[in-house]
Amino acid sequence: MSVVCYSDTKVIVAEGDTLLSALERADIAVPNSCRAGLCHSCLMVAHGGSVPAKAQQDLTPQQVAQNYFLACQCYPNEDMEVSLGGSDRRYEAVLIHKQPLNEGVLRVRLKTDMPWFAGQYTSVWKNAVDGRSFSIASLPEEGQIEFHIRRRPDGVISSWLEHELQEGDSCQLSEARGHCFYTRSSGDETMLLAGTGTGLAPLYGVARQALASDHHGDIHLYAASGSPDQLYLVDELAELAERYKNFHYHPVAKRAAEPHPRLHQGDLVEIVSRRHSNLKQHRVYLCGAPSMVKKLQKLSFLQGAAMTDILVDAFEAPA
Ligand code: FES
Repeated sequence: MSVVCYSDTKVIVAEGDTLLSALERADIAVPNSCRAGLCHSCLMVAHGGSVPAKAQQDLTPQQVAQNYFLACQCYPNEDMEVSLGGSDRRYEAVLIHKQPLNEGVLRVRLKTDMPWFAGQYTSVWKNAVDGRSFSIASLPEEGQIEFHIRRRPDGVISSWLEHELQEGDSCQLSEARGHCFYTRSSGDETMLLAGTGTGLAPLYGVARQALASDHHGDIHLYAASGSPDQLYLVDELAELAERYKNFHYHPVAKRAAEPHPRLHQGDLVEIVSRRHSNLKQHRVYLCGAPSMVKKLQKLSFLQGAAMTDILVDAFEAPA
């Protein structure tokens, strides 16, 4: 058991409990979203006591040196003194459009003044503490943020976005974060983009941003799902592939009842690593399920991609 001092309040954190849960039980509002160490919206800073290593695992060396940590990953093993760490600047956004893309995915578009790059992520806030992170599928020049939301009847934010928030209603967004976006260097390098489920959202943004920036190198986009009917934006991506000779769309389904000429069947990691065995001078973008991202990140490095050219956005549903 540890005692954590937040402002003037002392909070007891039982063994095996996260600091985030203990603060919430004490009615202290800490912004949070994924509760899995991915979105960084629960960033805090320690002014006293040592921070457990796990709570700083994915932070930059600069953040670690300044005692920042993630409250959802923090299991204190001694007394601490803490405060909120993020600027958590929020932007007003207005819902302008929503549309199911298939049974499981909802497209949501919002108007906002927040700056962003296609492929970054931001949190959508229902109120001061309930928010979820989503990746951005749209280009800044399109003037509206687009998310692809996994439809969950019991999802606090996804269900609210689908059933309660109406066109013209406002909500709040955190500052856009993440490094998974297109930056132009020579414009000739080959790009390999691979994602599972709604991991397509950032890749859809990155690929279109590259094409809009006159990227000449080949762009291979692999979008994977469990079965063909779970794929989405299939027609849009096929049209894009017809319009741009250097853009190649590869839908992947783990299982399919019948073979389809354009569909790859099987495991995404196995298919990508077999078809792209030499990744020297490639830029690689990996988004979606953390297990897939981790495996392909390692394989991409082993197959020749420079670590700085492998950009990842791993996310999963909050528990
Ligand atoms: S990283 Fe802690 S809530 Fe997302």
